[in-house]
Parts: sequence; structure tokens; C-alpha cells
Amino acid sequence: MIKKETIDAIFEAARVEEVIGDFVQLKKSGSNYKGLSPFVNEKTPSFMVSPAKQIWKDFSSGKGGNAISFIMEHEHFSYPEALRYLANKYQIEIEETEQSDEEKQALNERESLFVVSEFAKKYFHNILLKTDEGLAIGHSYFKERGFTEDTIKTFQLGYSPDQWDAFTKEALAKGYQLEFLEKTGLTIVKEDKTFDRFKGRVMFPIQSMSGRVLGFGGRILTNDKKAAKYLNSPESDIYHKSKVLYGIFHAKQEIASKDNCFLVEGYTDVIQMHQAGIKNVVASSGTALTPDQIRLINRLTKNITVLFDGDAAGMRASLRGIDLILEAGMNVRVCTFPDGDDPDSFARKTPIDELQNYLKNNATDFIRFKANLLMKDAGNDPIKKADVIRDIVVSISKVPDHIQREVYVQECASIMDISEDVLFSTLAQIGKKELQEANKKFVQDRKMEVVKNTPEETKEQVDIIYLLERKIIEILLIYGNYEELFDEYELKIVDEKVVTEKKRVKRKVFDQVFLSLQEDEVEMSNEKFRTILNDIISFYHINESWNLENYLKQVPPDLSDEITSIIMDDERYNLHNWEKQNIFVKSKEVAISQYVSETILTLRSYLIFSVIEEFKKQLPEQTENIRELLSDIVEYNKLKHTLSAQLGRVMPRFS
Ligand code: CTP
Ligand code: MN
Repeated sequence: MIKKETIDAIFEAARVEEVIGDFVQLKKSGSNYKGLSPFVNEKTPSFMVSPAKQIWKDFSSGKGGNAISFIMEHEHFSYPEALRYLANKYQIEIEETEQSDEEKQALNERESLFVVSEFAKKYFHNILLKTDEGLAIGHSYFKERGFTEDTIKTFQLGYSPDQWDAFTKEALAKGYQLEFLEKTGLTIVKEDKTFDRFKGRVMFPIQSMSGRVLGFGGRILTNDKKAAKYLNSPESDIYHKSKVLYGIFHAKQEIASKDNCFLVEGYTDVIQMHQAGIKNVVASSGTALTPDQIRLINRLTKNITVLFDGDAAGMRASLRGIDLILEAGMNVRVCTFPDGDDPDSFARKTPIDELQNYLKNNATDFIRFKANLLMKDAGNDPIKKADVIRDIVVSISKVPDHIQREVYVQECASIMDISEDVLFSTLAQIGKKELQEANKKFVQDRKMEVVKNTPEETKEQVDIIYLLERKIIEILLIYGNYEELFDEYELKIVDEKVVTEKKRVKRKVFDQVFLSLQEDEVEMSNEKFRTILNDIISFYHINESWNLENYLKQVPPDLSDEITSIIMDDERYNLHNWEKQNIFVKSKEVAISQYVSETILTLRSYLIFSVIEEFKKQLPEQTENIRELLSDIVEYNKLKHTLSAQLGRVMPRFS
């Protein structure tokens, strides 16, 4: 277990905007930062980070929390994994309490897979640099490919000895469990025998965005035609081929700052380009980009340049996959290399200035490129030409931006020597089909909604109570510790008449809210809010005061989403929205005490209003207790009037 002191030190040091800034391109927006959600594919930023409150909120997915919960969500880390990550980022030494054997075993499985992979990376790297076999075979291979010592170190390249189980034996001797060696695929177990999967190969560790080793690619060094040139780790709990991009860890900063990402096919393309000085480069590892991979890039930039190997067949095969990138609203350019060259060989033989110029001058807009290429293929064959046109129009239809789409139509019309009208009408046809499908879905959704919903009026009322309860939580979170003057009403008998007398008392907002809520035994109707309220109360009691930042740092994970939404909504909703609904909660610039009082009073009034309505509904059915019921209604109505008087107005919707 990580010691409490270490955890405190981590929380002390971690700044949410810095932690998130490693993964999301953040732009200042008022007192907050804004960026594209790293959790959904989106084109307009809905991801907010508040440096003042040290929290983040993703309005697209509804997720939110503090620095640690971001790392947990984003890297799919467990709590201790996230702590370790942050400790490493802020160079805080982790002190651990002594571990029992049971605790060691309980170290969760994913963590074990990470640990084994990290060990393997170091092992292969050491073999490469420190053993005769490694130096003679692996190291000299990399040298031959032109990789420098620095490059070998940066990418932690390695070599797996050409023996059946050298790695497995060493790992077992070091105490790593066979279970995890097998689950990461590093070891193959067959009938009680164990084999190293990557025997005799040079090793490329595949790292996550944050630098953790997820898996490996291993390249064969012999010319064995029967064996695969590259062998990769199998899918595991930590390695999902479709979700990783080779090189992303070393490229992310440069992708964001250059606002462009070069996409190549292979491990060696990434490494060679990086070594040449072009560091904003990642590889899809030989397959078409998946939506998850696109999302990884989209977080850092909206511009992608696909670098094609020299062979024409492969290039044509890749074209269709690129529509997916267009759909994500990204700008795609493509660049080819002279016949026989791939980015690796081209970068190796070209001086950096020339390389940069080449990329600059040869990167072509994708749709223009595709239209040119396919038209050349189609020649004068009208049937082929018609297919090409449809193909291009499909690509154009994927571009979300209208104006951009129109520009493409114009340009492609001239490339394909066809009228714009034809292209536009083909585009409209495609659009119509999609529209029809969308409509169908919409109608279906509506039907579901009608069935689900309660009548309009009750729904609205429930919503208002919901909003008010939420507001109360917000008040506690943000103003809990403020000391304010509150109006207090006391019933007195003056000249044999009952009158209310107004007094001013100084109280913490916290105490005021609790006292008021207790006054007429109001319980929050929303279960989640009740839980949060209890959690806030117990924090307040334990600490004997309220501090939002400290509270947020330790918030229970299951409440964290809801609480951050409440705080962040404060930034989003304007109070005039409330007024539209006839809820006259004053703006917060007005004295906090008034804001607090009005919110509480309004909530109480609403709750009382719903009690009265409930009574009224019972009236027609009641014969026995009708007197009692009527007197209850009268009592509650009185209370309602008192509250109205305190609020200084009649509540219009209430009767
Ligand atoms: N690949 C793979 N399995 C294979 C072949 C290729 O996973 N059997 C993936 C690897 O990620 C490789 C990429 O596809 O890096 C591109 O393949 P290729 O162009 O054949 O390899 P290069 O990267 O050019 O490798 P090298 O230069 O070492 O031949
Ligand atoms: Mn190659």
C-alpha cells in the first residue's frame, strides 16, 4: 500500500490542468481551459478544466472529477496505478507500507501485466546492449538500419535471445508469475513446456500515451519466408491492438505543438522519422486506422498527414479507410514517396531540410488526391468513371463542414471533368438516404420517450425540485464555509396576536442550510443528492470546517461525476434560465445570504406545494378523514404564505 503521506504529497503537487494537458490540447477560456473531449469523438470542445477548482468536466460524456480520476478514466488505471503515474510525473518518491503476502497477491491483475511487460522491456533492452549475442545480432542489426544509440535508448529497443525459453526462465527466477507471462503473451505454454514467443527477434516495445508498456512487436532477422516478419503481442487486458498507436508517447507533445500528425505504417518508419527530426509521427502498425486510434490523434490535433509506402497496390487499399478520418472532422492530407521508398528508407537517405520540404510540397489534400488517382485508373471507361464519381462523392459526404464540402465538389468537378450539378445531386442522394435513416431513428426514439414519460406537468415540477435540490448541493459545496448574515423569523405574541419578527443572525452557510432543511423535515427527493448531502455533512463534521478543494480531492469515486457536474454547471447555466421557469433565484452577485435563503425557501415552498397538491388529489376520494385533510391543507397553505412573505413575493405558479 502507498503511504498516506505519499498520497497527500501527490495531491499537493498535482495540478489538474498540467495532468490533463499531457493528453488534451487545452485552450484558455475565461478562467477555465477548454478542449476536445478525450472520451468521445467530437468537433466542438465540450471538455472543461477549472484550475481554480482543480476539477474537470466532460460535457459530452458526462464524466468529471479531479486529477486522479482523470488519469483513472483516461488511462484505465486503477487508483494505485493512477497514484504511481502522478508520483512519477511529479517526481515524488513513493513510500509504501509493508506488504503482506495477501496484499501482494491482491495487486490487481492488470497491474501485474504492466509490471511483467515493464520487466520484459528492460530485459530485452539489456540483452541488446549488454550481452555478446545481443550486441552481435540485435544491436548490429539496428546499427545497419541506421539507428543511433540515442534512438535505441529512446524507443527502448531490445533483443530476445535465440533460445527456447531464456526470457521465461529469467522472469520466473526473478519471481514473476507464469500466469502473467502467459497472459501478456510473452511466454507460450504448451503441455507443461514454456517457450519465449519472441525468440531470436529484435524487440519494439509498444507504449501507451502515458508511456506504459502495453505490448511488443518483434521483427525476425532471418530470411525465413514461412515465419512472419513481425510478430506482435496477442490481445490482453492491457494490449488492444485497435486502441494503440505506435510512437504516440514520443510524439504527443510534438503533434499538439505542430498541430499535425504524420501517420505511417510501420515501427521503423516512426523511428527513422523521429531520428531525422520529425517527431510528430505515429504508426497504425500495418492496418487501417480504427476509430479509437483516430480519437487518440483527434485529441491532439485536427490535422493528419498519411504517408504512403511507395507500393501502389497498398496505397489504393488504404484509401477507403481514410473516410473514417474525414468523418471525425479531421483534415486529411496524403503524401507518397518515390517508387520503392517508404518513410523509413526515404527519411534515412534525405537530409532533414530536404525531407521537410518534400513533405511540405508533396502533401496533398486527400480528396483531391483520391480523385486524381482514381480518375487516372478509370481512364476513358464510362462505367469505371461512374464508380469513381460515386466513390469520391461518398468521401465528400463524410466531411462534416458544409462549406468545405462545397469547395470539394467544385474542385472534383474540374478534376473529373464533370458538371458540379451531377456531383451535387449525387451528394444530395447520399445525404437523403442518411437523412431518412436519421429520421427513422428519431421517430423511434420519440415513441419510446412518449411511453416512458409521465404527463407534462408533473414532469416539469419534478424537474424544478430536482434543479433546486441540486442548487442546494452547489451552495453547500461552494459557499459552505462562508459566514453570512441571515434573516431569521421568529413567531411572537404581541398584544395577543401572533406576529413574525425578523432578526439577523450570523451563521455559516453550512449551518443555515442544515437548520432550514431540518425545520420542516424536508428530505431531498433525489436519492443521489441525499447521498451527496450525507457525504458532505460527514466531511464537514470530521473536519469541522469546509474546504472545497480538500473535499474534492477525496470525493468517493461513485459520487465524483455528479459532484463535478454540479460545480461545473455553475459555469454553464445562467440564472435567467431559472427566471424563465418562474424561479426567482437571485443572481449570485447579490449577497450570498440572500441567494442561499431564496434557494432554500423556494425549495421548501415547492415541496410544500407538492404536499398540498397531493392532499387535494385525495379529496374527492375521501369521506372519512375529510376534516383532517382539509385542516392539513389549510395548515400547509399558511406555511406556504409565510414562506411567500419571507421571500417577499407571491409565488406565481403555486396556486
Ligand atoms: N506488420 C505486422 N506483421 C507483419 C507485417 C507487418 O504486424 N507480419 C506491421 C508492423 O507493425 C510493421 C508494419 O506492419 O511495422 C508495416 O509492415 P512492413 O511495411 O512490411 O514493415 P516495415 O515497417 O517496413 O518493416 P521493415 O522495414 O523492418 O521491413
Ligand atoms: Mn520498411
